[in-house]
Amino acid sequence: MISFRSLFLACVLCGAAAFALNGPRAAAQEGPPQPPPTAGQGNPVDKLTPADIAMGKELFAANCASCHGPDGSGQLGPNLHGVVQRLGEQGVFAIVRGGRGAMPPISSINDARVWQVIGYVRTLGGAGAEEKAPGDPVKGKEVYAANGCATCHSIDGVGGTVGPQLTVIGRERAPSYLHSFLLDPGKNPPSDATLPERAGNTGYLLVHVVTKDGKDFTGIRVNEDTFTIELRDVGGHFYSFDKSQLRTIEREPGKTVMPSYTNLSADDLENLVAYLSSLKGAQ
Ligand code: HEC
Ligand code: HEC
Repeated sequence: MISFRSLFLACVLCGAAAFALNGPRAAAQEGPPQPPPTAGQGNPVDKLTPADIAMGKELFAANCASCHGPDGSGQLGPNLHGVVQRLGEQGVFAIVRGGRGAMPPISSINDARVWQVIGYVRTLGGAGAEEKAPGDPVKGKEVYAANGCATCHSIDGVGGTVGPQLTVIGRERAPSYLHSFLLDPGKNPPSDATLPERAGNTGYLLVHVVTKDGKDFTGIRVNEDTFTIELRDVGGHFYSFDKSQLRTIEREPGKTVMPSYTNLSADDLENLVAYLSSLKGAQ
């Protein structure tokens, strides 16, 4: 994002040909904060004491475990075992501060604390612990096709739009999370920290409204402002309401139009989870 100030600055600099190259650099400094120049050479994590690592563990429990699981082996977010070894300390720092995909930027802890967390995550060690889905993804793809998932979800652009895209779901969610989610989608809905009104859960907020003349509608909220609310039902129909014409508006966080798939056999469920886990997009 280029602010007026940086454009102005860039223009001033452009005035003097010798400084022309500094223009874009000046603008870049206005961007999101970069990882701090870490104290001298070397790696801030190497300087941590055992007490720092212990602190990092507590901070992890408070700031990361809700998504990455208490032992970091993944849940709503992916397994983090081996991630520091794979992405490097700076790489992990950048993800924590900048967020990525379904992970929001974490700004509740200062830099020193982030390094402590990374120090702890590094102790989780190599990728060996990554949870593997035991099922067969090829059979799972058939289960997906046979159960109408595509009426609501799309993969690589094919399918419905009632629910979220699943194109990279295997990168974002651990198999154990997918498994329990399919059995009880309302219990542990996916979270998106940018939506505080739904306690951080996704934009798929289910709303039930009753009009003054007694008709009721349930759908996923598409839009809402002070005066109007727009819903989309499972059939894909849009409804727009003037709030003054509504008797009640009930928001139902924790409820979802996604059915529970308790009717699947244990094998089908495992294969389906294996298929979903294999969806990682082109990387
Ligand atoms: C609200 C849930 C949530 C919280 C809280 C959260 N994460 Fe994440 N994290 C995710 C999700 C989801 C992804 C996968 C993002 C993607 O690739 O699209 C992710 C990805 C990551 C990755 C990249 C993993 C990889 O294999 O590339 C790292 C590293 C990471 N998180 C570290 C952390 C740390 C450390 C914390 C705590 C300071 C934290 N996260 C807090 C949800 C969360
Ligand atoms: C009637 C529509 C509908 C059908 C059918 C449906 N889903 Fe969903 N699904 C949703 C909605 C809506 C959500 C978002 C959950 C929420 O926040 O309400 C969702 C969420 C999900 C998620 C979690 C996404 C995330 O970001 O964590 C997965 C995984 C998923 N569905 C898989 C499936 C599979 C597999 C099937 C078929 C066996 C299926 N769904 C069938 C509507 C549907």
